[in-house]
Amino acid sequence: MQKALNVGMIGYGFMGRAHSNAYRKLNNFFDLEHRPVLKAVCARSPEKVKDFAARWGYESTETDWRKLIERKDIDLIDICTPNTPHAEIAGAAARAGKMILCEKPLSMNGPEGEKMVEAVENAKVPNMVWYNYRRIPAVTLAKKLIDDGRLGRIFHYRAKFLQDWTISADLPQGGTALWRLDVAAAGSGVTGDLLAHCVDTALWLNGPIDSLSAMTETFIKERKHNLTGKVEKVGIDDACTFMCRFSNGSLANFESTRYARGHKALYTFEINGEHASIFWDLHDLHRLQYFDHRDQGIVRGWRSIHVTDGDHPYMGKWWVPGLQIGYGHSFVHQLADFLEGVEKGKPAMPDFRDALRTQYVCDAVLQSAKDGKWVPVQKK
Ligand SMILES: NC(=O)c1ccc[n+]([C@@H]2O[C@H](COP(=O)([O-])OP(=O)(O)OC[C@H]3O[C@@H](n4cnc5c(N)ncnc54)[C@H](O)[C@@H]3O)[C@@H](O)[C@H]2O)c1
Repeated sequence: MQKALNVGMIGYGFMGRAHSNAYRKLNNFFDLEHRPVLKAVCARSPEKVKDFAARWGYESTETDWRKLIERKDIDLIDICTPNTPHAEIAGAAARAGKMILCEKPLSMNGPEGEKMVEAVENAKVPNMVWYNYRRIPAVTLAKKLIDDGRLGRIFHYRAKFLQDWTISADLPQGGTALWRLDVAAAGSGVTGDLLAHCVDTALWLNGPIDSLSAMTETFIKERKHNLTGKVEKVGIDDACTFMCRFSNGSLANFESTRYARGHKALYTFEINGEHASIFWDLHDLHRLQYFDHRDQGIVRGWRSIHVTDGDHPYMGKWWVPGLQIGYGHSFVHQLADFLEGVEKGKPAMPDFRDALRTQYVCDAVLQSAKDGKWVPVQKK
């Protein structure tokens, strides 16, 4: 007998669709006690939210998230809004005793994230942040290879997340779809948006970062603001690069920009260890490149592992070996892990506390870029 899990989702944009898709697919592929029920979706436009509800099969709609949280028939609040309201919504949802899934970045900054951690820990409600890249099978396989010790001592970590969609100076900032360019809605630019993903993966694969030195740039200094109609200063970072030292002694560099012409969502990372190296690329997400120096010399080289076999992470749940899955599936995996964690009493990561570590790195990046100095990264 499955247990109904009544979902109340806030925000119906890109992530609203990705998560709704995951709720609908989950029980077709994963064996869990819980069965998500699309109980209510909330956003500010009554017409648009009704259209969304009809398309995705939500039973009801709300236009005020506070009302959604007050509802007794909602078990889980899923926060898919821009970054500014994450903290307030999560605090209220925790006090109401709801499970919480929150989109990344956790918060606008570390101190705000600390309050969110306190709220969910005081209320003892299950919680998780949607850093979904951990659940792409090739990335999960990378974690397994590292944990099995195949790479040996790690020397280098290198990550990039490149896009090109804000190069035009005519692009306005703020409002629907362009809130990412408005510092009041986003908190930061590429640092909290793109680099946060790279940092979450890196902390998971390679452990904590001790200190870093960063630089950021805002290439277009003023843009028309969609909410005021006036030309206003741009407060976000358009590009960011930083170098850092991990606690395990490895050296790393990270780069993120929305000004890399030709790149749409090129997230890549490479890790070089004593015995082996791995490389992953979001544009080819079902493959993991692996080089092992211990292979016999005459056949030694980079292997391109097609991560689609039944014994690869998550793949036994999907099609037959050789057939690949995509970006959207990572959200189904994350949801499955979250609910399995709830059912087994072993919380899946990243919970709010784990995601706070990424927030501390992002804070240190912005601080370092501002001061032009190396800064230590807060760990707790
Ligand atoms: N995990 C990922 O890979 C990933 C990818 C994209 C975005 N995100 C994160 O997801 C969040 C949402 O991003 P998105 O791309 O879906 O944005 P989006 O602009 O596509 O959608 C945001 C939605 O929030 C709604 N909204 C805004 N303020 C609201 C309020 N006060 N009450 C109710 N609804 C409100 C908007 O109407 C819209 O439906 C952000 O925090 C972002 O960083 C994560």
